[in-house]
Amino acid sequence: MKFGKKVEQILNEQVVKEIWSAHLYLSMSSWLETNGLKGFANWMRVQYQEEMSHAMKIFDFILARGGHAVIGAIDSVPTEFKGLKHIFEETCKHEGIVTESIHNCFEVAEKERDFSTTNMLQWFIDEQVEEEQTALEILNQIKLIGEEGSAIYLLDKELGTRVFVNTAQSAQ
Ligand code: FEO
Repeated sequence: MKFGKKVEQILNEQVVKEIWSAHLYLSMSSWLETNGLKGFANWMRVQYQEEMSHAMKIFDFILARGGHAVIGAIDSVPTEFKGLKHIFEETCKHEGIVTESIHNCFEVAEKERDFSTTNMLQWFIDEQVEEEQTALEILNQIKLIGEEGSAIYLLDKELGTRVFVNTAQSAQ
């Protein structure tokens, strides 16, 4: 089936959004490390890698369909944050926006009767449930234990063990 221009465009826009998300999390990772939270910084660095793998999954899909994958302008990301809780509040908020955007891509593809694309996007719809849940769990833990003290030290240690697994690639 021919790859339609409307779907190609919205997917290229989603690639930019995924790269922007990656930059946001890398920026947060830097802030966290600067503020002595190495484990949280590691968690965010893995998050950065995940977002880049999301971008590449869509990028490769566009090429596989005979489309032209293009990288649009990537806006700059915030570099200053009010604290740990603020970072995870922003993460939750941002993931909600990404979910909306993925749903919008799905809707466009469905209208175009491009079911290869809706099938590919189904992976993202499932992934977003996990992304939102994980960020919210960490935010709730921070709210429970507060932003300072030994409990944060322990959570920092735990998040320091997170490693990147490219599930985006193996799911293709
Ligand atoms: Fe690519 Fe965090 O969604």
